[in-house]
Amino acid sequence: MPEIAKGRGDTIILVGFMASGKTTLGEALADALGYRFTDLDRYIERKEGKSIAEIFAARGESAFRAAEARALDEVLADSGRGVVLALGGGTPCREGVMERLNAKGITVHLDTSVERFAERIILQGATRPLAAGKSADELTAYIAAMLEKRNPYYGKAAIRFDSTRLENEEQVADSVKRLTEIIRRKNAE
Ligand code: S3P
Repeated sequence: MPEIAKGRGDTIILVGFMASGKTTLGEALADALGYRFTDLDRYIERKEGKSIAEIFAARGESAFRAAEARALDEVLADSGRGVVLALGGGTPCREGVMERLNAKGITVHLDTSVERFAERIILQGATRPLAAGKSADELTAYIAAMLEKRNPYYGKAAIRFDSTRLENEEQVADSVKRLTEIIRRKNAE
């Protein structure tokens, strides 16, 4: 068994704001470790038969949050034995969730600058209902305000990782290498 898969290291949970790189880095990390990859948003979409944007439009944010909380319970019950789990940006931002995640595995907060978040969200197009219809300036102000509320939750993660460099394959590979080493050390503590 690789050293990293012992103990809590067999469940790696990525948290962070929209476009922090949870899916990009999560997929590559799972690949490198030979772990399964589960993306909570994709899990919800498959289960509901609708995109996240469609769920928000049809039933509103509070119905989405309820579906998200149920989906999190389900994937956590099914985790272990080598999984990288990428959560939605808002998933851990409720009382008690980070504590549950920390009991379950090694949590990693992916973080970059407000400018980089905004740049990526704009580049990735209108897939995120919370960011839709905002000008670049409005988006930047929105991100800064949301981070103020959410960083206290994200900040409870076992590891904070700078995910600024994920813009091409080489950067992703390098980030995976660095993060794997940090997780390995954390798992040995
Ligand atoms: C959200 C983030 C999204 C998705 C939903 C709400 C949020 O996930 O769960 O649109 O509240 O930040 P990503 O962080 O993967 O974009």
